[in-house]
Amino acid sequence: METFEADWLALREPIDHRSRAASLLAPLCDTWRARGWSRVLDLGSGTGSNLRYLAPRLPPGQEWVLVDHDPDHLRTLRHAEVPASVRSLRVVPGDLVHEGLAAIAHADLVTASALLDLVSEDWLRRVVDACADAGRGAHFALSYDGEIRWSAGGASGGQGEDDPDDALVRDAVNVHQTGDKGLGPALGPAAAAVAARLFRSARYTTRLLPSPWRLGAADAALVRRLIDGWEAAAATVRPGDAGLIHAWAARRRATVADGRFTLRVGHRDLLALPHEGS
Ligand SMILES: C[S@@+](CC[C@H](N)C(=O)[O-])C[C@H]1O[C@@H](n2cnc3c(N)ncnc32)[C@H](O)[C@@H]1O
Repeated sequence: METFEADWLALREPIDHRSRAASLLAPLCDTWRARGWSRVLDLGSGTGSNLRYLAPRLPPGQEWVLVDHDPDHLRTLRHAEVPASVRSLRVVPGDLVHEGLAAIAHADLVTASALLDLVSEDWLRRVVDACADAGRGAHFALSYDGEIRWSAGGASGGQGEDDPDDALVRDAVNVHQTGDKGLGPALGPAAAAVAARLFRSARYTTRLLPSPWRLGAADAALVRRLIDGWEAAAATVRPGDAGLIHAWAARRRATVADGRFTLRVGHRDLLALPHEGS
């Protein structure tokens, strides 16, 4: 089982929030009002980032159920501030396969953030089937899509230009992303596109939009953590290239220290709405 430390979730939360595809909110709210929705299920809630983003942006009177299996996150969630637009909030300790899938029947809107790239196609199919059977809506934000692109920042150019080993590290990271994170072989970078396809096959109207992290010097703490994680992941996938990978990481740490760079990390947000009458 992979764990997601609270300090990592805290570091990424403001960047996640500013990166989201906000234009999905209008069609979501229109359907919410037209159908008289109130119940939201958040799968893999972590410390509640998705609640903090979505609740103030949805019509008031919401009833939230948050499912996670991490005891530390569950403790944090139980003490989380409840947004004013939320009428009730229930924290469910449990697994996404058991408690998560079972809760779909009692929701109007099924959501998750930063989750889909971790899940298997088999689990995702079960989510889509459960949503389609019950006519639920779905909003899955911030699924990593495989893009890692460095570029130079600043008028005089910085150190952000292509590094000869950017592609090697990115490709190895993307292979690592498809390892089993506890729910079977992970979809990794393909996740959002696969989810959109499955929902379309179930006769949903889908909107799939980019929600990339656009990072620069102000995000140095997060970028340093990314480099650490990518270095470890890439070296696991390509142990024979570990020397190249560690040298790449040292150069990219120097890029971050120099401060003149931008880094784009691709994500996608998906909104899937059931047809009227379903
Ligand atoms: C990348 S974190 C995202 C957390 C939060 N949604 C956010 O946007 O910050 C993934 C979350 O899914 C939870 N998770 C992963 N696999 C799970 C499983 N099989 N059952 C329950 N929760 C799971 C983890 O504990 C973690 O909190």
